[in-house]
Amino acid sequence: MKILIERDYDAMSKRAATLVAEQIRLQPDLVLGLATGSTPLGMYRNLIELVRRGDLSFAAVTTFNLDEYLGLAPDHPQSYRTFMEEKLFRHIDIIPVNTRIPQGLPDDIARHCDDYERQIAKHDGIDIQVLGIGRNGHIGFNEPGEEFGKLTHCVTLSDSTRQANARFFSPPEEVPTHAITMGLKSIMNARRVLLLASGADKSEAVRRAVCGDVTEDHPASVLQLHPNCVFVLDDAAAAKLP
Ligand code: F6R
Repeated sequence: MKILIERDYDAMSKRAATLVAEQIRLQPDLVLGLATGSTPLGMYRNLIELVRRGDLSFAAVTTFNLDEYLGLAPDHPQSYRTFMEEKLFRHIDIIPVNTRIPQGLPDDIARHCDDYERQIAKHDGIDIQVLGIGRNGHIGFNEPGEEFGKLTHCVTLSDSTRQANARFFSPPEEVPTHAITMGLKSIMNARRVLLLASGADKSEAVRRAVCGDVTEDHPASVLQLHPNCVFVLDDAAAAKLP
């Protein structure tokens, strides 16, 4: 595991964007795994700026997002599809059919999960998977206790995750109870993992991920076993590392 530490959120975001952009320039048909949440927003802004300046193209890139709420239509304001369209896809030259996100309203949930994995395999796997981290160590929607061996599957959201996301829903009880997420095994199958974390409230989760026991109680700890994993942190998120 490699740890890169920058002074603040903006520098962390720029460093992460540079790593992704360099790889797209080397391999224009990169298969990129993406995350939602607030952490990657700065990286997305930097990538958009590179495309605007003509320094980067997503024309041959394919993306696979980690997760989506169950029960939300793609055009629901809080769906992760809407989030990705607003924060990244509509501002870059990616071909819309090359952006994949689990469906919020699949006809058959288990079949859709299998199909998502098949699509990833058809693209020869994910080259770089971008991750954020939850304060309880979750990655994707893989909460503490989730088995390391799972591929894309349906999960019940924990109360803490539902509460953390309630601010985006009105009324807050509208936060979905379930989601589809790539599993920890899907994440570990990526050739390279880039975990981004910023802020003091992530420092304990980062410490346990980097130096704690590898345990299903802290899902991100599984990344210690990944052969090519980079943590891009700001000073505050790195504060508890030895
Ligand atoms: C989002 C996702 C989540 C977030 C995590 C951190 O697709 O997979 O695991 O990365 O909840 O969220 P933020 O970045 O909002 O702190």
